[in-house]
Amino acid sequence: MFTNNFFKALNIKNQKELLSFSKKTSIPVPKLKMYNEESIFPFNSDLNKILNELDITEFELKLKLGILDSDTIDLLAKYSSEITTLIKDSQYTRESTKKYNKSPIFKTDFGMLYQDDSLTLMENLPKNSFDLIFADPPFNLNKKYESKINDQLSKTEYLKWTETWVLRCIDLLKEGGSFFVWNLPVWNTYISSILNKYLNFRQWITVDIKYQLPIPNKLYPAHYSLLYYTKGKKPNTFNNQRLPIEICRHCGGDIKDYGGYKNKLNKNGLNLTDVWHDLSPVRHSKYKSRESNELPIKLLERVISMASNEGDLIFDPFGGSGTTFIVSEILKRKWIGSEIGPVDSIIKRFEDIDLHKKQILDIQKKKNVLFTEEMINIRTKNEHWLPES
Ligand SMILES: C[S@@+](CC[C@H](N)C(=O)[O-])C[C@H]1O[C@@H](n2cnc3c(N)ncnc32)[C@H](O)[C@@H]1O
Repeated sequence: MFTNNFFKALNIKNQKELLSFSKKTSIPVPKLKMYNEESIFPFNSDLNKILNELDITEFELKLKLGILDSDTIDLLAKYSSEITTLIKDSQYTRESTKKYNKSPIFKTDFGMLYQDDSLTLMENLPKNSFDLIFADPPFNLNKKYESKINDQLSKTEYLKWTETWVLRCIDLLKEGGSFFVWNLPVWNTYISSILNKYLNFRQWITVDIKYQLPIPNKLYPAHYSLLYYTKGKKPNTFNNQRLPIEICRHCGGDIKDYGGYKNKLNKNGLNLTDVWHDLSPVRHSKYKSRESNELPIKLLERVISMASNEGDLIFDPFGGSGTTFIVSEILKRKWIGSEIGPVDSIIKRFEDIDLHKKQILDIQKKKNVLFTEEMINIRTKNEHWLPES
């Protein structure tokens, strides 16, 4: 079964039809498969061969593939009223008609966890009510999740599903609220193009973490992307986060030259940039709550401290092991979340809340200062400069 838009547009439903189309157009099968798998528009002479075979115009093929260049958008806008009449408004609705009667599977002082498909839950949460939404969806890499979800959809299916949950999150966000999406760079390029239509772009944060082995003939992928958008021009909350300077791990000496401006450095630390180098994957069994993906507590501590205040309301549609929920709880933010699979690792995390409180305290001691206590000790011992000196 072929489910990507490209083969659908070419009316290719199975291998036999694919071979026959390849023969008629003399476009090799691997090339047709590439257009299909990558969902890209056919180029050079392939385009004419396809148009001739289908007997349609380039405009029609673009519409079939959902490719809307500015000229196409201008035309659609010009004929918007005729098009609306043609497809009838009733075929286009995002409102839920079903009544939702699920109760949370787990409640805490600050939060509520639903064991459900977040798409269903989101249809039933109040719109314009969340201060912060953080989403870390499956990456469609054929990973095995405890929930046994299909993590190997076709590109068209994955992007369609992605657009649905992204649009629902946008509806839930308050004006001035912030939306963060954690994903592989490739998927975040598509997610950005959805978000750019409805929200204000603030930052593409690069998080320096290696997640796979080097790939032949490609640069070594070494970062995740964290998109940061707000509803409206300004976020309601932006609490600046500052970091200590970097020093030599062994001798405590400077690594960077501050060009004679050392005495001008802010005592509360350096400005956080949009490239985050200080996070590492959760591997230590003391902190790791489950087999599959789990984000570092430090990442969520940073995002939640930066973009919300105590008492604010946070939503995470893809609970996983509950990193967003445990950090929200400890930082006294209200939260709502969902996880489609087992939720025992989330509940277990709340049983171990003291361990996480200690972890967060340690993280907080090491931010918003130019030097941490350990740094001051080693620098004093080895006679490196300190603000006081
Ligand atoms: C990448 S993990 C999230 C990890 C999480 N951020 C953490 O730190 O533990 C994605 C999670 O989303 C869940 N999931 C996938 N589709 C879902 C859906 N439609 N509704 C709710 N949860 C879903 C998966 O079962 C998986 O646990």
